[in-house]
Amino acid sequence: MHKTKIIGAGSIGNHMAYACRKLDWDVTICDIDEAALDRTKNDIYPSRYGSWDSNIKLALNSEVETENFDVVIIGTPPDTHISIAINELKNSSPKVMLIEKPLSTPELENLNELEELAKSKGTKLCVSYNHTTTANTLFAEELIAKGILGTPKSINVQWLEHWGGIFGAHPWLAGPHDSYLGFYKRGGGSTGEHSHCLNIFQHFSRVLGMGEVTEVTATMDMVDDGQVSYDQNAVIGLKTENGLVGSVITDVLTSPAKKAVRIQGDKGFIEWYVNYKNGFDAVIYQSEGSEIVEKLFEKTRPDDFQNEIEHVGEILSEKIEFQKSPISFETGLQTMKVIQAAYNSAMNKQLVQINQ
Ligand SMILES: NC(=O)c1ccc[n+]([C@@H]2O[C@H](COP(=O)([O-])OP(=O)(O)OC[C@H]3O[C@@H](n4cnc5c(N)ncnc54)[C@H](O)[C@@H]3O)[C@@H](O)[C@H]2O)c1
Repeated sequence: MHKTKIIGAGSIGNHMAYACRKLDWDVTICDIDEAALDRTKNDIYPSRYGSWDSNIKLALNSEVETENFDVVIIGTPPDTHISIAINELKNSSPKVMLIEKPLSTPELENLNELEELAKSKGTKLCVSYNHTTTANTLFAEELIAKGILGTPKSINVQWLEHWGGIFGAHPWLAGPHDSYLGFYKRGGGSTGEHSHCLNIFQHFSRVLGMGEVTEVTATMDMVDDGQVSYDQNAVIGLKTENGLVGSVITDVLTSPAKKAVRIQGDKGFIEWYVNYKNGFDAVIYQSEGSEIVEKLFEKTRPDDFQNEIEHVGEILSEKIEFQKSPISFETGLQTMKVIQAAYNSAMNKQLVQINQ
């Protein structure tokens, strides 16, 4: 039973708590805001998962700041992640620290300090790109390993989702101006909030042996009215170390949502979907000379996080070689570099190179 502290009693904090409790881990959720702790116990957790779990401890940050935990999960707004993570590591030495996506703001401030501190404490840092651990992704990886694609030619990602759903899950927010969501500099906007889209492109590029992203061009539709400042639509062109060219399109406009990856090879294709149908992720694929196959993966919203927490358990028990984990700090950092490059490209209307 791993002793776990979840910082941030909001939407993701509750999902993480539920996933940890399903593995019978010892869970403490803390927050700076007493109202958020009350909301967790009396509203979010029971309404999502049926009833409150009285084994979960609730605390203010200050009450558990110096206590040691095996796992610390940081589920607070992006512009607080790095200072909270550094503060935690100054006060304690968790074995694993899982930081929510996006890792930081596009400024990428203090990431070296965090990495050095984690190394000195022996803490394995992870970034919570949970879609790299779900069943549809693992299945697509098996198909790639079997060689059904032949030579990979392109990856194109669409991560199009109106953010009404996010505000539906946060009825206490008055709108984008009321949180980080309405500010790209704080990690909001479509590129920050939907950064899974870049991360999954990068994940499949690595799996295909096409390497890290080295070139970025982006065009964005910015909403900048004095009250908010964010990209509501972003079209991002990417090139990788080994020459693969592809795209990522993301917005906070499209309803119903579409979250899909198309990987094209010279002998076949793979399409990967989140919520392809209500209650199902999917992979659709074809190899040369064969029929198109549609494979569905039944899941609920809590399932989106279950594999990831099991993966964290395997990192703790060293069943997984941490350096190769799809949620390692390095992978989350690579996504931040592309987010930063995308904003630079869109603002300055130029191609941006990332030195690898
Ligand atoms: N992996 C995913 O699919 C996924 C899904 C949802 C959210 N997220 C990410 O999780 C993070 C939080 O999002 P959310 O929707 O849960 O936000 P939220 O607003 O619902 O909750 C954030 C909570 O953090 C608390 N908080 C703020 N500063 C704090 C501090 N210094 N110490 C302790 N608590 C603090 C707030 O009081 C609030 O209760 C974001 O980075 C978001 O992108 C990821």
